[in-house]
Amino acid sequence: MSLKADFTQGFVRNQWYAAGWASEVCDRPVARRILNEPVVLFRASDGKVGALEDQCPHRLAPLSLGECVDGGLRCGYHGMVFGRDGVCVSIPAQDVIPPTARARAYPVIERYGLIWLWPGHKPADQSLVPHVPAYGMQGWEVLENGYQHHGANYRIEIENLMDPAHTTYLHKETIGNPAAKNVPVSVAKSDHGLKAYRWIENIPPTPLDRASRDFGEGRVDRQIAFHFALPATSFVDIAVIPAGSDRSEACLSAGVRTYSYKFLTPETQSTTHFFWLHIRNFRVGDAAFNASLRASLEKTFQEDNVMASAIQQEQERTGLRQKTALAIDRAPMMALKMIDQMARSESAGD
Ligand code: FES
Ligand SMILES: [Fe+2]
Repeated sequence: MSLKADFTQGFVRNQWYAAGWASEVCDRPVARRILNEPVVLFRASDGKVGALEDQCPHRLAPLSLGECVDGGLRCGYHGMVFGRDGVCVSIPAQDVIPPTARARAYPVIERYGLIWLWPGHKPADQSLVPHVPAYGMQGWEVLENGYQHHGANYRIEIENLMDPAHTTYLHKETIGNPAAKNVPVSVAKSDHGLKAYRWIENIPPTPLDRASRDFGEGRVDRQIAFHFALPATSFVDIAVIPAGSDRSEACLSAGVRTYSYKFLTPETQSTTHFFWLHIRNFRVGDAAFNASLRASLEKTFQEDNVMASAIQQEQERTGLRQKTALAIDRAPMMALKMIDQMARSESAGD
């Protein structure tokens, strides 16, 4: 068998994508390519974020080379000013504003410290912003502003994130856990995605588990669940509880628990904005631990990037995606099928 790599497939457009961290969009415009379109993010004088096509309708100058002013964003070439709705509000030395003097405006929303952008032409549906339930809840520590630029199509990234089997090998210096390597992975489908998960049972707690909760002399069960939510959100839910205890949500959250979110935004067909957000219920307020955890997560995600980028190159060289299938491909294949289906039904609807 061999599967072809197809980099001509359309993106799913009528969804929210992370476009940037709110903290990076202050008094200067930020240029960002999203789903292959040039976008400029800026903060207007009312404090709200705007997102426009990064192109002035006059001579196509990138608006990101301009500046934030009262009333909106001023083009750096001849000074036309555009509001958050993309409509031109002033032209130097000219009273009449032609109706064509407008830039495309994208719906945006700020939530979880991120700016979410809706690149589609259908009306934006706020209920579709990914959910991060523990964000901002008491007793949970948030690591935010995580970002890496990855050199692979977002589908390769999704395959990687729905594939628990790679952690033992690719991440042996960071999160790899040799105890996991022979534990089978179960897959369950949900309305908006799926999860691949396994329980590693009756093992000794790690030193970090012990430092975070009092497990006494007892052993623990460890859940590792890789979730995928359409079109491009992944989160890993890790819970460590006393061996044999109840597995209700409440009991999982009474143990040591972490959620590791990745919001993937296609930049081009061969590159991805990798936004990450990490939430945990232990060592809350521990700044030194935060710093070392952030460094270790950055290292782990970079290990994924090195592998995904190399695979991207090889797919481009050969035009193939894979030549043989393994049992561990089940969840990644299901996730890709769901994306394909969504993209197809969207283009059929258009
Ligand atoms: S190119 Fe923007 S005002 Fe002329
Ligand atoms: Fe990984």
